Amino acid sequence: MPGERERGAAPRTAARGRVRQPASRPKGLAKNPQAVARPSARVRALLARMTLAEKLGQLNMASADFAVTGPVVPTRYLDGVRNGAVGSILNLWGEAAARDVQRIAVEETRLGVPLLLCFDVIHGHRTIFPTPLAEACAFDPALWEATARAAAREAGADALHLTFAPMLDVCRDPRWGRIVEGPGESAWVGARLAEAKVRGFQGEDLRSPEAVAATAKHFVAYGAALGGRDYAQVDVSARDLDEVYLPPFAAAVDAGVAAAMPAFNDLDAVPMTANRAMLRDVLRGRLGFRGVTVADYNAVAELVEHGVARDLAEAAALSIEAGLDVDMISAAFVAHLGKAVKKKRVATKTIDAAVTRVLTLKERLGLFENPYRVAPALAPQEAEAHRALAREAGRRAVVLLRNRGEALPLARDVKRVALIGPFADARKEMLGSWASIGDHETAVTFKVGLAAALPHAEIRHVAGCDVYGQALDGEALDLAAVRAAARWADVTILCVGEPADWSGEAASRTRLDLPGRQRDLVEAALQSARRSVVSISSGRPLVLPWLADRADALLATWQLGHEAGHAFADVVTGACDATGRLAVSWPWDVGQIPIFHGRRREGRPFDATTKYSSRYLDGPNEPLFSFGHGLSYANFVFGAPKLSKRRLANGEALTVRVAVENTSPRAGEATLFLFLRRRFASVGRPDLDLKGFTKLALAAGEKGVARFALASDDFIFPDATLTPVFEPGDVEVVVGTSAREATLAAAPLTLVDARSRKR
Ligand code: NOJ
Repeated sequence: MPGERERGAAPRTAARGRVRQPASRPKGLAKNPQAVARPSARVRALLARMTLAEKLGQLNMASADFAVTGPVVPTRYLDGVRNGAVGSILNLWGEAAARDVQRIAVEETRLGVPLLLCFDVIHGHRTIFPTPLAEACAFDPALWEATARAAAREAGADALHLTFAPMLDVCRDPRWGRIVEGPGESAWVGARLAEAKVRGFQGEDLRSPEAVAATAKHFVAYGAALGGRDYAQVDVSARDLDEVYLPPFAAAVDAGVAAAMPAFNDLDAVPMTANRAMLRDVLRGRLGFRGVTVADYNAVAELVEHGVARDLAEAAALSIEAGLDVDMISAAFVAHLGKAVKKKRVATKTIDAAVTRVLTLKERLGLFENPYRVAPALAPQEAEAHRALAREAGRRAVVLLRNRGEALPLARDVKRVALIGPFADARKEMLGSWASIGDHETAVTFKVGLAAALPHAEIRHVAGCDVYGQALDGEALDLAAVRAAARWADVTILCVGEPADWSGEAASRTRLDLPGRQRDLVEAALQSARRSVVSISSGRPLVLPWLADRADALLATWQLGHEAGHAFADVVTGACDATGRLAVSWPWDVGQIPIFHGRRREGRPFDATTKYSSRYLDGPNEPLFSFGHGLSYANFVFGAPKLSKRRLANGEALTVRVAVENTSPRAGEATLFLFLRRRFASVGRPDLDLKGFTKLALAAGEKGVARFALASDDFIFPDATLTPVFEPGDVEVVVGTSAREATLAAAPLTLVDARSRKR
């Protein structure tokens, strides 16, 4: 439960009152980072029987052609399977297709090793849930787990074994299109999301055909791509690696994630696909990962483009030596590692370790006993339950950013609604970026959802332009129709945003505005509207301060999935409270990027009256909407945080309680965040360091207590040498409804040396 963690840490003491201690994993490297937890007798026996070519086949992933998830590289994958040159396949699904290809592997190859069938199940498989970034805004680990469980159930019914999810790239730059696939800007949220998703996908037992093995991707720091440009170089400090980019991966490893995927980017000039220090020493050594590493699409071959390998042969040798197990698409391992082994360029034991890991994963999935594993087709009630879950997830992902004059919720008896904009009735847009094999024909649009929720209202729909902001059918934009509809209506709902294919992979942007002529449409509507409600569909925060200034109500509706329209209608009609909160800071201007909460303090902190302070001359430092922002329909009043103790020694636990009262006549759900703030330490600390969030549902007028459980581990940070320390000193425990200073209340705590305690 968020805010309910109880972690015990066995303290180890060191000199001068500072306690050096691993935050969550051993400092230093495991003795043999390439080691596999002892393989089973079956895997050992199988490996012993394999020829080198058969071993390399196990390390080769080919693509079928049911879907395209990268530049097309033609492969004759069926021939490859038959020759024992393919050990896994991506982009193929369905019981019949899976059976056909699996039968070739099992019956027509010498050793009959079953194939691993893989696919990108990112935010649902057939039933599409909100995109990961949208779902992160729910701040609800139980929900995160439930949607992954449902996705695994559906993927299992399509005979899939391994998904390339969850994507755990913390990102502070919304120009990067892939921000839509991840947890947002917080490492702490990323870690909680990682645990929940791994649990959800993998379930209790990977042998169940209703479970799929998960992949933690993209290892690591892909979200810090330079300038937000996809695939670009990454240069982050060792501290940021430890504190920002690695924690979600550490959490996924601790949750038992089966696979990990190195990122496309380089890190400090070494491409991740061949980054030995990161793959072997950090992922396997420090984080203790024992699963399979799978290259990203064609990434082994792309080492040549990176300029670190002269040819495919070198690329293959570099990457397997670096700790990569499976080559996706490049066919470099099968083509070149045989020779490399013979020339002693690559050690047989390196190949054997990789093959052992692949075979062990196949064994964990039960493929040797049950190569044709497939979950039963969903019963109609199950399919319905998944749709209901999608609606619930959709409601919880919507963030109400502004609500002037209580424009929302809509009056139940509203009579005339103008519904304007290209996203109002756009089924495909509802599913959003990378929607697995979800059928957009069955998506519920905002128009359909509103019509169902407001049966007595007349809804006039004017699309105005397409989602790229271009006039429809080559005609001029019909702004007169927009104005007329807005004038006629009691309330005008504008559905604008960026097209779904403008976020996701290879979808970076420089300007985060409304594409094309959508703004003209909005201006026309706002001029004539009595009351305006604006929904922004997008894969990232868009930069629209002018709109935030003028709309009566403003909602981030992201890409909500199959039940988008119902979820949207539930929120705008007040059938549920507005409970989503921003998992990313929402910039006021592109020039503020990268932008996130918890930056370190400067020597010349912001001071509007001083030139020589850390600020912009032409705009604010603060985002338009802070991390954690989101309005409820209910009103909550919070007390100051109450700590269970004022002094905390290493190894001890702390409980934080906050009194919350719903002072409104409506039921609602409060969201509280807990941060640590340390004004003085041996190194500069983030001004706000997130350590918890919790939600509390309260009836009208009800009082409750939000509770956070912290362990002394939560106060550990890397010192100047990056050694994790528990450093005595003063800390503030800060609780609030967002990272915005005005919403925060603090209580002091002193961290003490355990030995100074009287016993
Ligand atoms: C490229 C993407 O970067 C990765 O996330 C995905 O899993 C692979 N393609 C396979 O489709």
